[in-house]
Formats: sequence, C-alpha cells, structure tokens
Amino acid sequence: SGVEQLGNMIAEAACIVPFTGAGISTECGIPDFRSPGGLWTRNRPIAFDEFVSSTEARAEAWRRRFAMEETFAAARPGRGHRALASLYKAGKTPAIITQNIDNLHQASGFKSDDVVELHGNTTYARCIGCGHAYDLPWVKARFEETGSAPDCTICDEPVKTATISFGQSMPEDAMRRATELARQCDLFLAIGSSLVVWPAAGFPLMARNCGAKLVIINNEPTEQDDVADLVIRFDIGETLGPFVGN
Ligand code: OAD
Ligand code: ZN
Repeated sequence: SGVEQLGNMIAEAACIVPFTGAGISTECGIPDFRSPGGLWTRNRPIAFDEFVSSTEARAEAWRRRFAMEETFAAARPGRGHRALASLYKAGKTPAIITQNIDNLHQASGFKSDDVVELHGNTTYARCIGCGHAYDLPWVKARFEETGSAPDCTICDEPVKTATISFGQSMPEDAMRRATELARQCDLFLAIGSSLVVWPAAGFPLMARNCGAKLVIINNEPTEQDDVADLVIRFDIGETLGPFVGN
C-alpha cells in the first residue's frame, strides 16, 4: 500500500524535508484556502498593495484576523504535525518548509529556527516599514480604541500580521534556506498543499530535479502529481498517524 511504501522510503532516506500546506492543519480546526468552505471560497484575498493604500482594506484585514482568533488560539498540533516532529527528533529531518502561518510546527516541537516559513506567521504582527514586531493584543486594543488599524509607533507605517500577502515580496532568508533544503534532501514530502501558489510550489519540483524522491500526500489531486514518485491521495492524519513516535 501507499503507507507501506512511504514507510520504506522514510526508513531508507538520510535527509527528509517536509513541505506543508494548509491541509495538515484542517484536523486542528483551521480551514484551508481552496477546499469547499476554504477561506478563499468565502473571502477574496486582500492584496498587499490594497492593504498599503486603503485604510478600509486594513481595517477589513484586521477584522478578519480577529474573527479567527479563537480558532488559531485553540489549535493544537495534529497527527501530521506530530509525525513530522518525530522525524525531526529522530534526526532524519533537519528542518521543515511550510506555507502555513499557524505556528503549529513550532508547537509540535520544531525549534523556530528550523521552521522555514515561506508565508510568514499570523500569531504576531509587524510594521511593514521598519519591521518592528507587535503582539496581537496591542493591535486589538489600539483598533478598538481608535476604530482603525494602528500604525507603527516608531515610523508611522501600517502594522500588519507577520504574514506574506499576494503581491508582497517573499522573505529572502526563508527562500534561501528552503532552496538549500530542497537541494540537499533525498526525500521531499509535500503534504496538504494544492501546489498552485508560486514561488512556494517550486520547491517540490526543485527537490525532484536535484535528485530527491518526491512524495505527495493530499486528499485531492495537486498540480504536481504527475512528477511525484508516490502520491497518497488520502487523509493526512490517517496517513501519518502511524509515524507519530513518543
Ligand atoms: P490549499 O487550500 O490550496 O490546499 C490545501 C489542500 O489540502 C487541498 O488540496 C485539500 O484537498 C487538502 N486537504 C485539506 N485537508 C486535508 C486532509 N485532512 N488530508 C489530506 N488533504 C487535505 O492550501 P495551500 O496549498 O496551503 O498563501 O495554499 C497555498 C497558499 O495559498 C497559502 O499559503 C496561502 C494561500 O493563498 C498566501 O496567502 C500567500
Ligand atoms: Zn515601523
């Protein structure tokens, strides 16, 4: 079976790099983007230039974020997160590349330095000018006090969740580190991503082109199933549950 084959590939690999998308966190209560009921089926994304140029877009972005607060705050790592943390603990996985912003890989036991966040992190905020970090309760209090999204107390530029929006430049360090990881691994696991958003979706292909085996675990077809060595079209928690160690 697929799971048995995955087990053999994991056993034989010296360096496994997981690459995750929103599908790994749905069992934790966080909706993905493109499935029925996903975030982009309910709301149009707010692009970076809209956020920068429109106070109304900024307020809307923060209202959406606050509406998700209970969901993010209550979420705990699922079986997928825990299985990958087991590989990390066992020394098989040097670091993980993720498109997710929910902090659940860190919560499952990965050191922050070993979570390469391509799309940032939604559990705190940053000034888009000087990069100063703010915590969300500060943003919420300012928002409620003034009725509009706060600006940086240092440089007066807008404060935004520390995530990457469409149209915003990618984080250079994360891109560099992800490139290194994709090139050095011998097994690349693409888990819970539709693989439609670039440049993130370039990493599975890069790993494959550099000689790694590529496994895709996703319950719907993805853009790259045809180039994968193994496709497991099944639930992530069910598939990776057997790999959760102690
Ligand atoms: P998508 O919503 O595009 O894809 C998630 C995939 O996970 C879908 O194909 C689902 O079928 C699958 N899935 C969901 N739950 C699953 C489960 N329990 N078991 C197996 N498969 C499951 O999310 P991403 O590919 O992560 O970026 O989206 C990529 C980027 O698009 C995000 O990082 C975000 C978004 O716009 C930005 O906002 C910049
Ligand atoms: Zn600033």
